[in-house]
Amino acid sequence: MKNTVLITGASSGFGKLIAKKFQSEGWNVVATMRSPQKETELNQLENVLVTELDVTKPNSIAKAIITATDKFGTIDALVNNAGLGIAGPMEGISNDEIRNQMDVNLFGPINTMKAVLPQMRAKKSGTIINVSSIGGRVAFPYFSVYMASKHALEGLTDSMQYELDPFGIRLKLVEPGVFKTAFGENSTQSETSKMADYHETNQKFYDKYFKTEGSSLDDGDPQQVADAVYEAATDNSEQLRYPVGASAIQTLGARQQMSDIDFKNMMKQHALAGIA
Ligand SMILES: NC(=O)c1ccc[n+]([C@@H]2O[C@H](COP(=O)([O-])OP(=O)(O)OC[C@H]3O[C@@H](n4cnc5c(N)ncnc54)[C@H](OP(=O)(O)O)[C@@H]3O)[C@@H](O)[C@H]2O)c1
Repeated sequence: MKNTVLITGASSGFGKLIAKKFQSEGWNVVATMRSPQKETELNQLENVLVTELDVTKPNSIAKAIITATDKFGTIDALVNNAGLGIAGPMEGISNDEIRNQMDVNLFGPINTMKAVLPQMRAKKSGTIINVSSIGGRVAFPYFSVYMASKHALEGLTDSMQYELDPFGIRLKLVEPGVFKTAFGENSTQSETSKMADYHETNQKFYDKYFKTEGSSLDDGDPQQVADAVYEAATDNSEQLRYPVGASAIQTLGARQQMSDIDFKNMMKQHALAGIA
């Protein structure tokens, strides 16, 4: 019998590539998105169910899981990929914007995990892959609430791996570096955080890392992320973290070896030169 994966945020970027990767490897794929009526590609593929799911709405998650299990039976793997970024200096970002960031990037995975865990616990197997970021273990300025959401997702996942071990359920973190998807366009500069004192450095950071065109960091083909998610789902290992892309591998490697102060100085001399 084929395995089934449910993916959130499959309308674009990594999510769409992840859906295609699992489909090409012979899995049943539940490709979920907020606006399935706009999808034209994934619904042409065999064994792919495109259905609506907004990670901030538990009712929509419950409905998607019923639709998925009616069609394919149980869900073997869950990929929490949906996410967005809110940028700007923390001091000025409104609490509503911060809550929205956490609703999607942290409570989103919490909501979907709570919804699939009962069936995974019942069959004593399953894999949950949470798409974190290089920003789940190191931090950059003017993106603090995004960094907070991914650090929180890492802590949550790390802790849950122990809780779910006895049920044969594996937890995984995929940590992409910097890839050109729609993420830059879909990430917003907080409207309330346009404070004069921060303006110049905030703008420099935005120009260096956010603008899809001309961004100074690029880890190459985003397919690497889809391949890493597939590896995490199928390698049968206890490995928790899968950094993807040279920037993630190098930066996270350096972070493990260096003291806080040495790492900060290295960041200021290289990644943040002229910014912080
Ligand atoms: N690109 C990078 O360099 C990078 C690096 C590290 C980590 N990441 C992480 O990778 C993941 C995917 O990002 P991406 O780069 O592929 O960006 P993307 O192309 O902007 O994709 C983000 C996806 O999340 C969906 N989404 C947003 N809010 C949602 C909600 N409330 N419910 C359901 N889906 C929602 C979007 O759907 P709509 O089409 O409906 O908006 C879209 O499909 C994110 O978690 C991001 O934080 C990206």
